[in-house]
Amino acid sequence: MSEIAVIGAGYVGIPTAACFAHLGHHVVCADVDEARVRGLAKGEVPILEEGLPALVVEGLQSGRLRFVVGSQEAAAHAEFVFICVQTPQSESGAADLSVVEGVAREIAPVLRPGTVVVNKSTMPVGSTDAVARALKSAGAVTDVGVASNPEFLREGQAVRDTLAPHRVVIGCDDTEVAVRVSAVYRDIQAPVLVTDPASAEMIKYASNAFLATKISFVNAIANLCEAVNADVREVVLGMGYDPRIGFEVLHPGPGFGGSCFPKDTAALLHTADEAGYDFGLLRAVMDVNVKQRNLVVDKLRAAAGGDLRGANVGVWGLAFKANTDDLRDSPAVFVAEQLIAEGATIRAYDPAARETAAVRLPGLEVATDAYDAAAGASVLALLTEWDEFRWLDFGRVRTSMQSPYALVDARNLLDPSAMRRRGFVYQGVGR
Ligand code: NAD
Ligand code: UGA
Repeated sequence: MSEIAVIGAGYVGIPTAACFAHLGHHVVCADVDEARVRGLAKGEVPILEEGLPALVVEGLQSGRLRFVVGSQEAAAHAEFVFICVQTPQSESGAADLSVVEGVAREIAPVLRPGTVVVNKSTMPVGSTDAVARALKSAGAVTDVGVASNPEFLREGQAVRDTLAPHRVVIGCDDTEVAVRVSAVYRDIQAPVLVTDPASAEMIKYASNAFLATKISFVNAIANLCEAVNADVREVVLGMGYDPRIGFEVLHPGPGFGGSCFPKDTAALLHTADEAGYDFGLLRAVMDVNVKQRNLVVDKLRAAAGGDLRGANVGVWGLAFKANTDDLRDSPAVFVAEQLIAEGATIRAYDPAARETAAVRLPGLEVATDAYDAAAGASVLALLTEWDEFRWLDFGRVRTSMQSPYALVDARNLLDPSAMRRRGFVYQGVGR
């Protein structure tokens, strides 16, 4: 079993650290946020992630998991340092690697000979070499390996995805280092693919861009279905039975959001531009996505009679998808902001993102539950597909609303005919 440092206690770092400890490794997880580290050291997990609190407590109790402030303390005794810090989008669209470079500078002086630094954060082609250079120029001993090991977990199922990934990708030119990194995963049942660093880095971006392409494709088909009176749900069902197409990641909605697809498609487009390749397909994927968010606003405006000024709109869901509290680049937040900007009064309810929403969105009234959000509204917007929104007393919702009882279901979560029978003026996506 290995001595592992995980740098960054966020949506990737905490599940990575807790799962490695669960597998028997000794893990020290570092963050710069002291309050976060203090909480984690007491077993308080600051993100909504199924199964994670139990794993963190298990790790703390076993003594195999510790949380510390600052990367140096974690890295000083590690055989492997997994970098899990943020790589946000910069103004040019490129991934901003300044936080990663900062970590490289911090840890360089304390690394022991033989340590392997592993890039788990999403970083563009060339980053494995860039981190190696940053370590060297900050005084790291010569015998330090660097590998790319991109992460494919989904928020909301991070523990499952970490313990049972579809694949483990390791990008490294040094076979011995790659074999050592693969040994960290030896108790995980998954294909391990060892490649050169550039290919590993490209696998991560190509995977996210492909999934984003599926979503924009199905959103475009949904828009066309609306124009020709077809039902996108039937269309996707009919497509999905072909195993070459499949059913997954073909749900139309308000466009893809979250901290990754939007920034990673932008970063890949930037890489293509820099390489002199006109990636028009990816540009179109991103264009469809921006339009898709705005289409939801258009539907809500039309539902309010063409003008949102003074309209009371109830909002169900603010997170960028269900089962997460993450509001980063959420289409729901975009829609809520637009409604507020156009003069609507918003009462919003999200099962997980209540407190952050109140801080992020001044002007938004935070409701206590779905009924409270709907009460007095003339228009309802279902923006995140939380399961609890399926099982409401819709008669009660309808009675508490005002005319015209419009319901815009941007996730196709509800049954149109059942909603119309209840007296809603229902509109979904592509049907
Ligand atoms: P995050 O913002 O949730 O977490 C990053 C953490 O790193 C923060 O808590 C921050 O305080 C900490 N940090 C910053 N500088 C530090 C330093 N010098 N020392 C110690 N800690 C420091 O980010 P995230 O969502 O976990 O994403 C991390 C990376 O993983 C990104 O590159 C992202 O693209 C990639 N990724 C994310 C997901 C996801 O679902 N969120 C999935 C796969 C890959
Ligand atoms: C995504 C990928 O699925 C992960 O494999 C990857 O590791 C991660 O990005 C990353 O690199 O950070 P995540 O952002 O957690 O994971 O969310 P997804 O479940 O993929 O959803 C992304 C967005 O697409 C959400 O806004 C979601 O509502 C939307 N979506 C997803 C659709 O509109 N339709 C679908 O069929 C699927």
